[in-house]
Amino acid sequence: MEKQANTDHPIHTLLTNRWSPRAFGNRKVEKEKLQRLFEAARWAPSASNEQPWYFIIGQAGDDTYRKIFETLVEFNQLWAKTAPVLMLLAGKTKSGKSGKHNPWWQYDTGQAAAHLTFQAASDGLWLHQMGGFDAEKAGKSFNLPEDHTAITVIALGYQGDAARLHPNLQKLEIAERERKNTRTFVFSNTFGEPSKLI
Ligand SMILES: Cc1cc2nc3c(=O)[nH]c(=O)nc-3n(C[C@H](O)[C@H](O)[C@H](O)COP(=O)(O)O)c2cc1C
Repeated sequence: MEKQANTDHPIHTLLTNRWSPRAFGNRKVEKEKLQRLFEAARWAPSASNEQPWYFIIGQAGDDTYRKIFETLVEFNQLWAKTAPVLMLLAGKTKSGKSGKHNPWWQYDTGQAAAHLTFQAASDGLWLHQMGGFDAEKAGKSFNLPEDHTAITVIALGYQGDAARLHPNLQKLEIAERERKNTRTFVFSNTFGEPSKLI
């Protein structure tokens, strides 16, 4: 299903076409495509090139998948069960160099996810990121070191039939994508003053 962003200015089609589906088909995700996703994540920029991101990936039917699935809140379990791939995204919270807290670990880990997201879009794959999961349980399940924190779960696959979703979710699946206007978040002079530069 297509849900093109209704943009005010022309942007890359990978960005306009991407959205977060909840209906996945059971087509397996090819190994080469998975390799490309993580290659894309690998080349994300990060503060001091710390590359604090870590992915734990499972395929439907394996133990990793089951353990990730078990961390999801009920709402997410309702639909994520159709995704052929689930991955847990975690970040190292301390600098590998200084051993001190790395204030940018979340920012950088998110950027790696963004890189992966657009590579997925370019390869015809779809993904849906989730904050609705038990990070502590995930940490224990996968023996995350004490200075690492799980931050999201990502469901990945090819799109499936929205008609097979729970009726409440079908509404969300077809709802138009919405965003704030750029004037509400791009400022000059002082916070809150829309910039005249754009
Ligand atoms: C960090 C993060 C956490 C999210 N958590 C959830 C979630 O727990 N469950 C869910 O159904 N969607 C979740 N989403 C998806 C967002 O709701 C979705 O990206 C947003 O509504 C914009 O829609 P779009 O991606 O289709 O443009 C999450 C997205 C992000 C980036």
